[in-house]
Amino acid sequence: MRPSSDNNYPDQHKPNWKIIAGLWPYLAEYKGRVILAVGMLILAKVATVTTPIALKYIIDYLDQNRGLDMLLWMPLMLVLAYGALRFGSTLFSELRDAIFARVAERAMRRVSLRVFRHLHQRELAFHLDRKTGGLARDIERGTTGISFLLRFTLFNIVPTLLEIVMISGILLVAFNVSYVLAILVSVLVYVVFSIRVTEWRTSFVREANSRDNESNSRAIDSLLNYETVKYFNNERYEAEQYDQGLERWEQARLKNRLSMAALNTGQAFIIGVSLIVIMSMAVREVAAGQMTLGDFTMVNAYLIQLFVPLNALGFVYREIRQSLVNVERLFGLLGDKPAIEDAPDAQALSVSQGAVEFRDVHFSYRPDRAILKGVSFSIPAGHTVAVVGASGAGKSTLARLLFRFFDVNSGSISIDGQDLRHISQDSLRSAIGVVPQDTVLFNDSLYNNLAYGRPSASQAEVEHAAQQANLHDFIRSLPDGYHTTVGERGLKLSGGEKQRVAIARVLLKNPPLLILDEATSSLDSISEQVILNALNEVSRQRTTLVIAHRLSTVSDADTILVMEQGEIVESGSHSQLLEFKGYYAKLWQQQQHTAETPAQA
Ligand SMILES: Nc1ncnc2c1ncn2[C@@H]1O[C@H](COP(=O)(O)OP(=O)(O)O)[C@@H](O)[C@H]1O
Ligand SMILES: [Mg+2]
Repeated sequence: MRPSSDNNYPDQHKPNWKIIAGLWPYLAEYKGRVILAVGMLILAKVATVTTPIALKYIIDYLDQNRGLDMLLWMPLMLVLAYGALRFGSTLFSELRDAIFARVAERAMRRVSLRVFRHLHQRELAFHLDRKTGGLARDIERGTTGISFLLRFTLFNIVPTLLEIVMISGILLVAFNVSYVLAILVSVLVYVVFSIRVTEWRTSFVREANSRDNESNSRAIDSLLNYETVKYFNNERYEAEQYDQGLERWEQARLKNRLSMAALNTGQAFIIGVSLIVIMSMAVREVAAGQMTLGDFTMVNAYLIQLFVPLNALGFVYREIRQSLVNVERLFGLLGDKPAIEDAPDAQALSVSQGAVEFRDVHFSYRPDRAILKGVSFSIPAGHTVAVVGASGAGKSTLARLLFRFFDVNSGSISIDGQDLRHISQDSLRSAIGVVPQDTVLFNDSLYNNLAYGRPSASQAEVEHAAQQANLHDFIRSLPDGYHTTVGERGLKLSGGEKQRVAIARVLLKNPPLLILDEATSSLDSISEQVILNALNEVSRQRTTLVIAHRLSTVSDADTILVMEQGEIVESGSHSQLLEFKGYYAKLWQQQQHTAETPAQA
């Protein structure tokens, strides 16, 4: 089974209407603009509801003066006013949009940046547990949700309510309460119907969306596995699987369409019935001479006008609920506190010598499985300590703890006597250079990936670092040289090339402490020797923690620690350890036999 795709659309939750209040800070930044936009909104609505009044006066004037030798300027002035009001209604709406656009866009920008910063502050464990794709979707949905909430409450819900109130007032003054009641009842029926039917439809919409997601991720997964598909001649199988997904999508879309038709028809029916009822009331009054033809037209115009914004109400209601859920998720993401935070009184690390000390360190990633069981060792300033041991022994964990990706459970780690927990993460990390076990590169040019070690470095410095990492000649041999793009996560480079990029980056960063986590494991023995020379050169003046599985690469370290299942079982110099005839000596013997087998690059 492949991992299931994203079909858990987050709208199963109940929306939390309080979220709207959480948006206020984003509006407050532009108080003036918000007030101006609301002013435009009111002007637009005033123009909208007075347009039918102008129409009424035109008709009444023409009707009452029929056959008379009348002055045309009067109705023409009214027509002018009518046209101006129509235009005004659109003009003010557009002005409102234009004025408010900046507020909504700025809010999206602010939130996106806040979330991005927050995510970089979160500890490594958080990111290891999460799918980046899902995270990106949460952020995108959340920020869109914010913009939707801001715009639609202000541009749809509030204006429509305002319009209903204004029209009711006008009808009450001009005619009598029965019109107001009739209109309010039909609006109410219409609203209730739209919301109910939209809620019923939501399951179809949701299904169509998740089927869409499903077949999409299926297709992407299949294309990502292009090579695997070819290895097993499974093109037909893949196409069938994809088509099955498409078929479910087709069905869901069909239900979606049909229910949409039902909604539209029902809404039109309610409008039709209210038109009939209210217009017949007006017909009788016109016949009885209690209402003019102009009044009749005006009532008609109000009815038609009122239902237009309500048309989208079901959709707006559903989207607002959905947006509330999405925004809540996003705010939830922001609400989590990073597990690793600077202490309130955190000092900047001051490296004078760069001596590292691990004192009785216990650590586990999960409470039910201890990884480090009381590890103690020290790296005197400027010395190199190597850690060797079987895969899974906890070697890389030492590096992650020293870099403070995690905090120790008990015991302590210190640099020049300063406990890592009492210094700022920023200063700690700027003092340590890491060549990790697996290097991941940005999907960018080789040059930019190298310069990432110190973005302010000059081109000469970058090239010098590349030279030291034995990378310069290789890069020069590429058709695009330093401008070659490395592909997503650096996939267009071999493992050894990526490792050399990582080494060059650290050379550029030039930190006082160095962690080399199997830094040359992906290199063949010839390039390994060249790079080891370079690394030895840089680690000579620095405190260095080297992790290795090929013992030949660390035999000249000052001290070698042998780790086994989270404990240091042997330590000493290469010759001491050989004399000791323990695990190290055995491993050394073994590796001497296979020494000439080059590693895969
Ligand atoms: N984030 C993690 N969550 C849980 N277990 C982990 C995590 N990272 C590593 N481990 C486990 O911790 C043990 C030590 O890992 P590591 O220090 O990377 O070993 P190595 O000595 O090969 O570098 C391994 O068994 C590994 O499976
Ligand atoms: Mg490791």
